Amino acid sequence: MKTASNQPNQQNQKTPAFLMKGLAGRKTLKGRVTINGAKNAALKAMAAAVLFDKKVRLENVPHTADIDTMSAILEKLGAKITPVRNHVMEIDTTGMTAANSTDIDPVLAGGMRASVVLTGPLLARFGKVSFPAPGGCVIGARPIDLFLEGYKKMGAKVTLENGLYQITAPNGLSGMDNFFHIISVGGTETLMMAATLAKGKTILSNCAKEPEIINVAEWLISCGAKIKGAGTSTIEITGSGRNIGDAGKLLHADQAKPFVTIPDRIEAGSFLLLGALCAKDLVIEKCEPKHMTAVLHLLGDAGVIMEVAADTITLKGNAKPNSQSKSFNISTKEYPGFPTDLQAPAVVFLTQVTGESSILETIFEGRFKYVEDLVQLGANITVTDPREIKVKGPTAFAKPIGDLYAHDIRAGFAIVMAALVANGHFKIHNAHLIDRGYESLEERLTSLGADMRRS
Ligand code: EPU
Repeated sequence: MKTASNQPNQQNQKTPAFLMKGLAGRKTLKGRVTINGAKNAALKAMAAAVLFDKKVRLENVPHTADIDTMSAILEKLGAKITPVRNHVMEIDTTGMTAANSTDIDPVLAGGMRASVVLTGPLLARFGKVSFPAPGGCVIGARPIDLFLEGYKKMGAKVTLENGLYQITAPNGLSGMDNFFHIISVGGTETLMMAATLAKGKTILSNCAKEPEIINVAEWLISCGAKIKGAGTSTIEITGSGRNIGDAGKLLHADQAKPFVTIPDRIEAGSFLLLGALCAKDLVIEKCEPKHMTAVLHLLGDAGVIMEVAADTITLKGNAKPNSQSKSFNISTKEYPGFPTDLQAPAVVFLTQVTGESSILETIFEGRFKYVEDLVQLGANITVTDPREIKVKGPTAFAKPIGDLYAHDIRAGFAIVMAALVANGHFKIHNAHLIDRGYESLEERLTSLGADMRRS
């Protein structure tokens, strides 16, 4: 029996679903898939637009639901946005003011954790920000203590009233020396952005090193920010010394300095894992294999034959049965380790190959909710600890389970993979969660030969 916890938002009949027919273990998909820009870089560049004194242009922006949510939040704050068309968008924050542009909409912010990244630029520019305390989310508690501690060290005052944080720094932010006691992508990006307008030098130690951080930092540097060390564990920022109320000391961009989003390494890794199981011939184009070392090594060791070029990965003649590939163990880690965002798709891969694997989730404590769905399909998975599972493969997915559920963006992709591998017809509920991170997934998979549509 499915439990209520296994069926998020099932009561909301209006959410979209994917209707799919599985391939029953056959590897028939073929063609080319183009990788979009990284949503987790584009979202941060959108937040960074608040640091600028002019309209900014963002290129290679994926048109995912999270990008639309961030647009809506910025528009409510007074930004003018030219929505994503052909993967280009423009954001003009010149009309934003301290009087009208510092209260982040609690409802919109509740739908997307990345909204907390906006607090840094808003506080740095306007000297105040209010936003809702983020609740527990489907992949774990996701606290914001690192952000709040950082703001306090920069001279801000933090209060929590009626579920809303009020952060104020009427004299502007000051530089600081900060050590992240937990490595945090959002924490690193947010404090780095806030520090670009602060007075004096900020040193951030034990930083996250994700490529998306470098992508944003390099753009900010090209527009006048003084940032050294992004992509290493120590980032040093010399702020512009902004006094709140001053017209100047913001960053400058022009059409010649657009933000160009790097390829989405998680989307590319997702298609690679899916292709390894279900495709005969697949070319993954416009990706950045240099950012995908962990997954490429594991799949190579498992026996998946890939040709890796500068910006493509090709699975050619990948027709041998999946049971001829070997299992591997995973421990999710900060970049360049194995990304937590590929944990669920990798587990689906491991259900189909030969051997026993152990998967340790070290980043988020609640990222195994999809396991119940896989077990119902026929997977042999044991949860040995809230953060660890054991998978024994191969197992055919032949059980007649019609209704499957996306629990979050990545677990949703994993369930699509599982349905493709399986024998039967499936309805994948909560497709809107998949839309948060993957643009037009059903169209892209259909073009490879999958039987899939939106309902
Ligand atoms: N953490 C704290 N306190 C904080 C902030 C984080 O304890 O103040 C903890 C988190 O609870 C977690 C760990 O630090 O246990 C790492 O979290 P991190 O801050 O690095 O994650 P994030 O910035 O919230 C981003 C991505 C996630 C991705 C993680 C890890 C965005 C918008 N989100 O989240 O992406 O899983 O880094 O790589 O960039 C996704 O795209 O599906 C997704 C969830």
